[in-house]
Amino acid sequence: MTRTRLPTVEAALIFLSVAQLCTALKCVCQLCANDTCETGADGACWNSVMLINGKEEAVKSCLSPAEMRGQVFCYSSRNVSKRHCCFTDFCNNETLHLHPGYVERPSEEAGWGRLELAAVILVPSTLLCVSILLGVCVVQGQPCAYNRAHKNDVEEPLDDQSLMSPDKCLKDLIYDMSTSGSGSGLPLLVQRTIARTIVLQETIGKGRFGEVWRGKWRGEDVAVKIFSSRDERSWFREAEIYQTIMLRHESILGFIAADNKDNGSWTQLWLVTEYHEHGSLFDYLNRYTVSVDGMIVLALSIASGLAHLHMEIIGTQGKPAIAHRDMKSKNILVKKNGTAVIADLGLAVKHDSSTNIIDIPSNHRVGTKRYMAPELLDDTINIGSFESFKRADIYSLGLVFWELARRCSIRGLQEDFQLPYYDMVPSDPSVEDMRKIVCDQKLRPNIPNQWQSCEALRVIGKLMRECWYANAAARLTALRVKKTVSQVTVLKDIKD
Ligand SMILES: Nc1ncnc2c1ncn2[C@@H]1O[C@H](COP(=O)(O)OP(=O)(O)OP(=O)(O)O)[C@@H](O)[C@H]1O
Ligand SMILES: [Mg+2]
Repeated sequence: MTRTRLPTVEAALIFLSVAQLCTALKCVCQLCANDTCETGADGACWNSVMLINGKEEAVKSCLSPAEMRGQVFCYSSRNVSKRHCCFTDFCNNETLHLHPGYVERPSEEAGWGRLELAAVILVPSTLLCVSILLGVCVVQGQPCAYNRAHKNDVEEPLDDQSLMSPDKCLKDLIYDMSTSGSGSGLPLLVQRTIARTIVLQETIGKGRFGEVWRGKWRGEDVAVKIFSSRDERSWFREAEIYQTIMLRHESILGFIAADNKDNGSWTQLWLVTEYHEHGSLFDYLNRYTVSVDGMIVLALSIASGLAHLHMEIIGTQGKPAIAHRDMKSKNILVKKNGTAVIADLGLAVKHDSSTNIIDIPSNHRVGTKRYMAPELLDDTINIGSFESFKRADIYSLGLVFWELARRCSIRGLQEDFQLPYYDMVPSDPSVEDMRKIVCDQKLRPNIPNQWQSCEALRVIGKLMRECWYANAAARLTALRVKKTVSQVTVLKDIKD
């Protein structure tokens, strides 16, 4: 009788373990409320220790499925750091040490010990259980236990030592990032090491969520956005979006690292990105005019960046569609080579087309009022459809193009720099101020007559009108805008 019951009990045990592996986990998290965090489905608990200034520093937290895909997170590297991913509630509770004598056996392994023992005793029934396990995974459509077990087998693709060798410059690290297999960013401990060796130089700006500094890392400039602990959610969200798989693009601000530094009395949250000395497009257009070529190069890179954000790439190395939700000239930066990058992804939303889920609960009226699309101002936007958010971005893009085109200098003539609707609303307009102008009176920024006399300005003028239609569905897509702007370049090339 005992013999017949054993496999049943074991199967039940395995079933329960698998069920737990496929659902959310609770983990120890030093910087979270109640020292606890919760992973999404298919996440893991993370436990690590690294040597900082000769002292062992432990980090315990939750890992999201996206971070899990960046396999390097779960591996240790010789001497410098040790990290471990595990998959049962609070399994990251114990303290890891770098010295081999101190390494404790992770609880995940302890949890599976009974099963391993059972496997040794009852090989045939274990085989049966493996089939059940695979069956459960197939039924639930999750690559859970099987993948996780395999993660620990895969050879370490990059270790922290090779990533952090002293001769590495930012360019090398960014190259490592894009070839490390995860396509999503540097391992967390490498990010932390970079952030902690940056020397801040001067403040360069201040936004809604903290201050931006210029810093030096190994002699190179970097930008550091410092959030207060009050704005932790914004910091986390922006870091999370920047580390979306395959987001990296020449027209999206280059993310380098995120770090949370506890100095005993408060927590400083850092977001480190590439530094662009011209600052924002807003700063740049205030200071300089642009040539026709300069305008086209800027417009093309902005449209390319937005088209990349909006585009969903399907496949294991794919990316979700992303809507920015705060497109404006202050959130676009100008590079030395005259192209632009899109920055400030803290309000962005991601879309999973297979489930049709938008990744955060929608507080739809976010962003900057002056740039809000009519359907946001009068609250008629269909927040159930992800397309709506992309269309709202396109409206804002039209306004950015208007700011840009005004500064295009032809035969020494150009307009002064102005924000959209500068002549129709007060300097810090309310939603109501904007709604009256944009929805009720259906007004849009003025397109000067002289733009008709220059082919490039005529095309850009037509484009912006097609971006700011009241009917969101009639607006151009980012890809269409990009193609049309690139044709202006071709037309120009032919004329030259
Ligand atoms: N990577 C960077 N390189 C150079 N300058 C930057 C960088 N990031 C930000 N800045 C400068 O810092 C300023 C503040 O940026 P931040 O994103 O915090 O606020 P904002 O865009 O001005 O306002 P908001 O909070 O509404 O987004 C920018 O306007 C820009 O001038
Ligand atoms: Mg900003």
